[in-house]
Amino acid sequence: MSKPVTILAIESSCDETSASVCVDGKIISNYIANQSVHEQYGGVVPELASRAHMQNIVPVVDQALSAAHISRNDLSVIDAIAFTQAPGLIGSLLVGAQFAKSMALALNKPLIGVHHMQAHVLANLIGDNPPSFPFLCLTVSGGHTQIVLAHSPLQLEVIGETIDDAAGEAFDKTAKLLGLPYPGGPLVDLHAKTGNPKAFSFAEPQIPELNFSFSGLKTSVLYFLQKQEPGFIEQHLNDLCASVQYAIVNILIKKIKKAVQQTGIKNICIAGGVSANSGLRSALQETGEKLGWKTYIPVFEYCTDNAAMIAITAHYKFLDQQFIDLDASPSARATW
Ligand code: KG4
Ligand code: ZN
Repeated sequence: MSKPVTILAIESSCDETSASVCVDGKIISNYIANQSVHEQYGGVVPELASRAHMQNIVPVVDQALSAAHISRNDLSVIDAIAFTQAPGLIGSLLVGAQFAKSMALALNKPLIGVHHMQAHVLANLIGDNPPSFPFLCLTVSGGHTQIVLAHSPLQLEVIGETIDDAAGEAFDKTAKLLGLPYPGGPLVDLHAKTGNPKAFSFAEPQIPELNFSFSGLKTSVLYFLQKQEPGFIEQHLNDLCASVQYAIVNILIKKIKKAVQQTGIKNICIAGGVSANSGLRSALQETGEKLGWKTYIPVFEYCTDNAAMIAITAHYKFLDQQFIDLDASPSARATW
Protein backbone atom coordinates (compact mmCIF):
# COMPACT_ATOMS: atom_id res chain seq x y z
CA MET A 1 0.00 0.00 0.00
CA SER A 2 1.39 3.44 -0.89
CA LYS A 3 2.07 6.04 1.78
CA PRO A 4 -0.83 8.51 2.36
CA VAL A 5 -0.41 11.99 0.85
CA THR A 6 -0.33 14.65 3.59
CA ILE A 7 -0.69 18.31 2.62
CA LEU A 8 -0.46 21.44 4.75
CA ALA A 9 -2.36 24.32 3.10
CA ILE A 10 -2.49 28.04 3.89
CA GLU A 11 -5.09 30.60 2.80
CA SER A 12 -4.45 34.33 3.33
CA SER A 13 -5.94 36.05 0.28
CA CYS A 14 -8.22 38.52 2.08
CA ASP A 15 -9.11 38.91 5.75
CA GLU A 16 -9.10 35.33 7.01
CA THR A 17 -5.91 33.55 8.02
CA SER A 18 -6.48 29.83 7.67
CA ALA A 19 -4.50 26.57 7.69
CA SER A 20 -5.62 23.03 6.96
CA VAL A 21 -4.19 19.52 6.90
CA CYS A 22 -5.50 17.08 4.32
CA VAL A 23 -4.57 13.37 4.16
CA ASP A 24 -5.38 11.49 0.95
CA GLY A 25 -8.04 14.05 0.03
CA LYS A 26 -9.71 13.93 3.46
CA ILE A 27 -9.72 17.14 5.51
CA ILE A 28 -8.28 16.41 8.96
CA SER A 29 -8.18 19.98 10.27
CA ASN A 30 -9.26 23.43 9.10
CA TYR A 31 -8.50 26.33 11.39
CA ILE A 32 -9.69 29.87 10.52
CA ALA A 33 -8.84 33.16 12.28
CA ASN A 34 -11.11 36.06 11.34
CA GLN A 35 -9.93 39.68 11.50
CA SER A 36 -12.33 41.93 13.41
CA VAL A 37 -10.01 44.96 12.98
CA HIS A 38 -11.80 45.95 9.72
CA GLU A 39 -15.33 46.30 11.12
CA GLN A 40 -14.92 49.93 12.18
CA TYR A 41 -13.81 50.92 8.64
CA GLY A 42 -16.76 49.44 6.73
CA GLY A 43 -14.52 47.26 4.53
CA VAL A 44 -11.21 45.39 4.49
CA VAL A 45 -8.18 47.68 4.92
CA PRO A 46 -5.38 45.92 3.00
CA GLU A 47 -2.48 47.11 5.17
CA LEU A 48 -4.26 46.08 8.38
CA ALA A 49 -5.10 42.71 6.81
CA SER A 50 -1.41 42.00 6.03
CA ARG A 51 -0.38 42.91 9.58
CA ALA A 52 -3.09 40.71 11.10
CA HIS A 53 -1.99 37.81 8.85
CA MET A 54 1.57 38.21 10.16
CA GLN A 55 0.33 37.99 13.74
CA ASN A 56 -2.01 35.08 13.04
CA ILE A 57 -0.07 32.83 10.72
CA VAL A 58 2.15 30.97 13.21
CA PRO A 59 -0.60 30.22 15.78
CA VAL A 60 -3.07 29.29 13.00
CA VAL A 61 -0.65 26.82 11.39
CA ASP A 62 0.20 25.45 14.86
CA GLN A 63 -3.51 24.90 15.57
CA ALA A 64 -4.12 23.14 12.25
CA LEU A 65 -1.10 20.87 12.78
CA SER A 66 -1.91 19.99 16.38
CA ALA A 67 -5.58 19.30 15.50
CA ALA A 68 -4.18 16.84 12.93
CA HIS A 69 -1.86 15.34 15.60
CA ILE A 70 1.29 16.50 13.81
CA SER A 71 3.87 17.80 16.29
CA ARG A 72 6.56 20.35 15.45
CA ASN A 73 9.12 17.49 15.60
CA ASP A 74 7.09 15.46 13.17
CA LEU A 75 6.83 17.85 10.22
CA SER A 76 8.56 15.44 7.84
CA VAL A 77 5.24 13.54 7.49
CA ILE A 78 4.02 16.47 5.37
CA ASP A 79 4.44 15.73 1.65
CA ALA A 80 3.80 19.24 0.26
CA ILE A 81 3.04 22.78 1.35
CA ALA A 82 0.26 24.62 -0.49
CA PHE A 83 -0.80 28.26 -0.43
CA THR A 84 -3.22 30.63 -2.17
CA GLN A 85 -1.17 32.15 -4.96
CA ALA A 86 -3.90 34.31 -6.57
CA PRO A 87 -6.09 36.32 -6.68
CA GLY A 88 -6.41 38.49 -3.59
CA LEU A 89 -4.88 41.40 -1.72
CA ILE A 90 -1.21 41.33 -2.63
CA GLY A 91 0.10 42.11 0.87
CA SER A 92 -2.10 39.39 2.35
CA LEU A 93 -1.10 36.84 -0.30
CA LEU A 94 2.57 37.62 0.31
CA VAL A 95 2.35 36.65 4.00
CA GLY A 96 0.94 33.20 3.20
CA ALA A 97 3.29 32.74 0.24
CA GLN A 98 6.43 33.60 2.22
CA PHE A 99 5.39 31.37 5.11
CA ALA A 100 4.64 28.44 2.79
CA LYS A 101 7.91 28.91 0.90
CA SER A 102 9.92 29.04 4.12
CA MET A 103 8.37 25.78 5.30
CA ALA A 104 8.87 24.11 1.93
CA LEU A 105 12.52 25.19 1.91
CA ALA A 106 13.17 24.16 5.53
CA LEU A 107 11.49 20.76 5.11
CA ASN A 108 12.73 20.23 1.55
CA LYS A 109 9.19 19.52 0.33
CA PRO A 110 7.43 20.56 -2.89
CA LEU A 111 5.43 23.78 -3.05
CA ILE A 112 1.94 24.03 -4.59
CA GLY A 113 0.35 27.34 -5.66
CA VAL A 114 -3.46 27.33 -5.71
CA HIS A 115 -5.91 29.66 -7.47
CA HIS A 116 -8.47 30.87 -4.91
CA MET A 117 -11.47 30.61 -7.28
CA GLN A 118 -10.57 27.08 -8.37
CA ALA A 119 -10.39 26.19 -4.68
CA HIS A 120 -13.88 27.61 -3.99
CA VAL A 121 -15.25 25.29 -6.72
CA LEU A 122 -13.37 22.24 -5.46
CA ALA A 123 -14.64 22.81 -1.89
CA ASN A 124 -17.57 20.77 -3.21
CA LEU A 125 -15.30 17.71 -3.41
CA ILE A 126 -14.79 17.74 0.38
CA GLY A 127 -16.96 15.20 2.17
CA ASP A 128 -18.62 11.86 1.54
CA ASN A 129 -21.04 12.81 -1.23
CA PRO A 130 -19.12 14.79 -3.87
CA PRO A 131 -20.67 15.67 -7.26
CA SER A 132 -19.60 13.60 -10.24
CA PHE A 133 -18.02 15.30 -13.25
CA PRO A 134 -18.96 17.23 -15.29
CA PHE A 135 -20.74 19.69 -12.99
CA LEU A 136 -21.67 23.37 -13.02
CA CYS A 137 -20.65 25.56 -10.12
CA LEU A 138 -22.09 28.95 -9.28
CA THR A 139 -19.20 30.63 -7.45
CA VAL A 140 -20.37 33.68 -5.55
CA SER A 141 -17.94 35.52 -3.30
CA GLY A 142 -17.07 39.04 -2.20
CA GLY A 143 -14.79 39.54 -5.21
CA HIS A 144 -16.14 37.22 -7.91
CA THR A 145 -19.33 35.84 -9.42
CA GLN A 146 -18.84 33.08 -11.95
CA ILE A 147 -20.48 30.07 -13.51
CA VAL A 148 -17.83 27.38 -13.90
CA LEU A 149 -18.06 24.21 -15.94
CA ALA A 150 -15.94 21.62 -14.12
CA HIS A 151 -14.78 18.89 -16.52
CA SER A 152 -12.41 17.38 -13.92
CA PRO A 153 -10.71 18.70 -10.74
CA LEU A 154 -7.98 20.41 -12.75
CA GLN A 155 -9.99 21.30 -15.85
CA LEU A 156 -12.34 24.16 -15.03
CA GLU A 157 -13.90 26.50 -17.56
CA VAL A 158 -15.47 29.88 -16.68
CA ILE A 159 -18.61 30.14 -18.85
CA GLY A 160 -20.14 33.26 -17.27
CA GLU A 161 -19.14 36.04 -14.89
CA THR A 162 -20.07 39.42 -13.54
CA ILE A 163 -19.40 42.49 -15.63
CA ASP A 164 -19.34 44.81 -12.59
CA ASP A 165 -19.94 44.05 -8.89
CA ALA A 166 -19.75 40.57 -7.41
CA ALA A 167 -22.81 39.08 -5.68
CA GLY A 168 -21.12 39.51 -2.28
CA GLU A 169 -20.47 43.17 -3.07
CA ALA A 170 -24.13 43.58 -4.00
CA PHE A 171 -25.05 42.25 -0.55
CA ASP A 172 -22.42 44.32 1.26
CA LYS A 173 -23.09 47.59 -0.61
CA THR A 174 -26.86 47.44 -0.23
CA ALA A 175 -26.39 46.47 3.44
CA LYS A 176 -24.33 49.63 3.84
CA LEU A 177 -27.18 51.69 2.32
CA LEU A 178 -29.42 50.12 4.96
CA GLY A 179 -27.02 51.19 7.71
CA LEU A 180 -25.71 47.69 8.44
CA PRO A 181 -22.00 47.18 9.33
CA TYR A 182 -19.46 45.38 7.11
CA PRO A 183 -19.65 42.61 5.98
CA GLY A 184 -23.38 43.15 5.49
CA GLY A 185 -24.17 39.91 3.61
CA PRO A 186 -24.73 37.70 6.67
CA LEU A 187 -26.81 40.47 8.35
CA VAL A 188 -29.06 40.90 5.30
CA ASP A 189 -29.55 37.12 5.44
CA LEU A 190 -30.45 37.31 9.14
CA HIS A 191 -32.98 40.17 8.79
CA ALA A 192 -34.43 38.62 5.62
CA LYS A 193 -35.53 35.56 7.60
CA THR A 194 -38.45 37.52 9.14
CA GLY A 195 -39.12 39.86 6.19
CA ASN A 196 -41.40 39.72 3.15
CA PRO A 197 -39.37 39.14 -0.05
CA LYS A 198 -42.17 40.61 -2.20
CA ALA A 199 -42.54 43.82 -0.13
CA PHE A 200 -40.44 45.93 -2.54
CA SER A 201 -39.20 45.26 -6.06
CA PHE A 202 -35.99 46.54 -7.58
CA ALA A 203 -34.64 46.85 -11.15
CA GLU A 204 -33.66 43.56 -12.76
CA PRO A 205 -30.65 43.66 -15.13
CA GLN A 206 -30.97 42.35 -18.69
CA ILE A 207 -27.47 41.01 -19.37
CA PRO A 208 -26.79 38.70 -22.33
CA GLU A 209 -25.38 35.17 -22.21
CA LEU A 210 -24.36 33.77 -18.83
CA ASN A 211 -22.95 37.04 -17.47
CA PHE A 212 -24.18 38.95 -14.44
CA SER A 213 -24.53 42.58 -13.38
CA PHE A 214 -25.31 43.85 -9.88
CA SER A 215 -24.45 47.56 -9.98
CA GLY A 216 -27.94 48.52 -11.29
CA LEU A 217 -29.61 46.79 -8.35
CA LYS A 218 -27.50 48.77 -5.88
CA THR A 219 -28.44 52.05 -7.66
CA SER A 220 -32.10 51.05 -7.75
CA VAL A 221 -32.06 50.45 -3.96
CA LEU A 222 -30.27 53.79 -3.43
CA TYR A 223 -32.84 55.80 -5.47
CA PHE A 224 -35.71 53.99 -3.76
CA LEU A 225 -34.36 54.81 -0.28
CA GLN A 226 -33.71 58.46 -1.20
CA LYS A 227 -37.44 58.89 -1.91
CA GLN A 228 -38.55 57.65 1.54
CA GLU A 229 -39.34 59.52 4.76
CA PRO A 230 -36.84 59.50 7.67
CA GLY A 231 -37.21 56.37 9.80
CA PHE A 232 -38.37 54.25 6.81
CA ILE A 233 -35.34 51.94 6.89
CA GLU A 234 -35.66 51.24 10.64
CA GLN A 235 -39.39 50.48 10.26
CA HIS A 236 -38.98 48.22 7.23
CA LEU A 237 -35.50 46.74 7.69
CA ASN A 238 -36.56 43.09 7.56
CA ASP A 239 -38.75 43.59 4.46
CA LEU A 240 -35.99 45.59 2.75
CA CYS A 241 -33.41 42.88 3.46
CA ALA A 242 -35.78 40.12 2.30
CA SER A 243 -36.56 42.03 -0.93
CA VAL A 244 -32.89 42.77 -1.70
CA GLN A 245 -31.94 39.16 -1.02
CA TYR A 246 -34.80 37.94 -3.21
CA ALA A 247 -33.59 40.19 -6.09
CA ILE A 248 -29.97 38.99 -5.86
CA VAL A 249 -30.95 35.31 -5.56
CA ASN A 250 -33.35 35.68 -8.49
CA ILE A 251 -30.55 37.02 -10.74
CA LEU A 252 -28.30 34.10 -9.74
CA ILE A 253 -30.91 31.35 -10.14
CA LYS A 254 -32.06 32.64 -13.56
CA LYS A 255 -28.50 32.43 -14.92
CA ILE A 256 -27.80 28.99 -13.53
CA LYS A 257 -31.06 27.80 -15.14
CA LYS A 258 -29.83 29.23 -18.45
CA ALA A 259 -26.47 27.48 -18.01
CA VAL A 260 -28.27 24.16 -17.47
CA GLN A 261 -30.30 24.73 -20.66
CA GLN A 262 -27.16 25.53 -22.65
CA THR A 263 -24.93 22.71 -21.38
CA GLY A 264 -27.45 19.99 -20.48
CA ILE A 265 -25.50 19.44 -17.24
CA LYS A 266 -27.73 18.89 -14.22
CA ASN A 267 -25.14 18.41 -11.46
CA ILE A 268 -25.18 21.84 -9.83
CA CYS A 269 -22.91 23.12 -7.06
CA ILE A 270 -22.56 26.46 -5.33
CA ALA A 271 -19.43 27.87 -3.73
CA GLY A 272 -17.95 31.02 -2.19
CA GLY A 273 -19.01 33.19 0.73
CA VAL A 274 -22.46 34.03 -0.65
CA SER A 275 -23.27 30.30 -0.90
CA ALA A 276 -23.70 30.56 2.90
CA ASN A 277 -26.84 32.64 2.16
CA SER A 278 -29.95 30.79 3.34
CA GLY A 279 -32.14 32.32 0.59
CA LEU A 280 -29.77 31.11 -2.14
CA ARG A 281 -29.39 27.68 -0.53
CA SER A 282 -33.14 27.07 -0.34
CA ALA A 283 -33.81 28.58 -3.81
CA LEU A 284 -31.20 26.27 -5.35
CA GLN A 285 -32.63 23.26 -3.57
CA GLU A 286 -36.23 24.09 -4.57
CA THR A 287 -35.32 24.83 -8.20
CA GLY A 288 -33.25 21.64 -8.33
CA GLU A 289 -36.13 19.53 -7.02
CA LYS A 290 -38.51 21.09 -9.56
CA LEU A 291 -36.20 20.69 -12.56
CA GLY A 292 -34.60 17.35 -11.70
CA TRP A 293 -31.12 18.66 -10.88
CA LYS A 294 -28.72 17.08 -8.41
CA THR A 295 -27.69 19.97 -6.16
CA TYR A 296 -24.65 20.20 -3.91
CA ILE A 297 -24.06 22.81 -1.22
CA PRO A 298 -20.80 22.73 0.75
CA VAL A 299 -21.05 22.76 4.54
CA PHE A 300 -20.93 26.31 5.90
CA GLU A 301 -17.28 26.09 7.05
CA TYR A 302 -16.13 25.48 3.46
CA CYS A 303 -18.26 28.24 1.85
CA THR A 304 -16.43 31.33 3.15
CA ASP A 305 -12.65 31.63 2.79
CA ASN A 306 -10.86 28.65 4.32
CA ALA A 307 -7.69 26.60 3.84
CA ALA A 308 -9.49 23.25 3.49
CA MET A 309 -10.51 24.22 -0.05
CA ILE A 310 -6.86 25.09 -0.79
CA ALA A 311 -5.81 21.71 0.64
CA ILE A 312 -8.28 19.66 -1.45
CA THR A 313 -7.21 21.51 -4.63
CA ALA A 314 -3.55 20.96 -3.72
CA HIS A 315 -4.27 17.25 -3.26
CA TYR A 316 -5.29 16.95 -6.94
CA LYS A 317 -2.35 19.11 -8.02
CA PHE A 318 -0.02 16.86 -6.00
CA LEU A 319 -1.38 13.75 -7.76
CA ASP A 320 -0.68 15.52 -11.07
CA GLN A 321 2.77 16.65 -9.84
CA GLN A 322 1.88 20.33 -10.42
CA PHE A 323 4.55 21.97 -8.28
CA ILE A 324 5.96 25.49 -8.44
CA ASP A 325 9.43 26.92 -7.80
CA LEU A 326 10.39 28.75 -4.63
CA ASP A 327 10.75 31.98 -6.63
CA ALA A 328 7.12 31.89 -7.90
CA SER A 329 5.28 35.12 -7.01
CA PRO A 330 1.74 35.57 -5.78
CA SER A 331 -0.54 37.68 -7.96
CA ALA A 332 -3.39 40.05 -7.03
CA ARG A 333 -5.17 39.30 -10.31
CA ALA A 334 -4.77 36.12 -12.25
CA THR A 335 -6.99 34.19 -14.59
CA TRP A 336 -6.83 30.41 -14.60
O1 KG4 B 1 -15.68 33.85 -0.39
P1 KG4 B 1 -15.63 34.89 0.67
O2 KG4 B 1 -15.54 34.44 2.11
O3 KG4 B 1 -14.45 35.89 0.44
C1 KG4 B 1 -14.05 36.28 -0.85
O4 KG4 B 1 -13.27 35.54 -1.49
O5 KG4 B 1 -14.56 37.34 -1.26
O6 KG4 B 1 -16.94 35.80 0.47
C2 KG4 B 1 -17.21 36.90 1.28
C3 KG4 B 1 -18.55 37.48 0.86
C4 KG4 B 1 -18.89 38.81 1.54
O7 KG4 B 1 -19.34 39.70 0.55
C5 KG4 B 1 -20.00 38.43 2.52
O8 KG4 B 1 -20.91 39.49 2.78
C6 KG4 B 1 -20.68 37.31 1.76
O9 KG4 B 1 -19.61 36.57 1.21
N1 KG4 B 1 -21.48 36.45 2.65
C7 KG4 B 1 -22.83 36.40 2.59
C8 KG4 B 1 -23.24 35.51 3.60
N2 KG4 B 1 -22.11 35.05 4.26
C9 KG4 B 1 -21.05 35.65 3.64
N3 KG4 B 1 -23.70 37.02 1.76
C10 KG4 B 1 -25.00 36.75 1.95
N4 KG4 B 1 -25.48 35.93 2.90
C11 KG4 B 1 -24.64 35.27 3.74
N5 KG4 B 1 -25.12 34.45 4.68
ZN1 ZN C 1 -13.18 33.62 -1.43
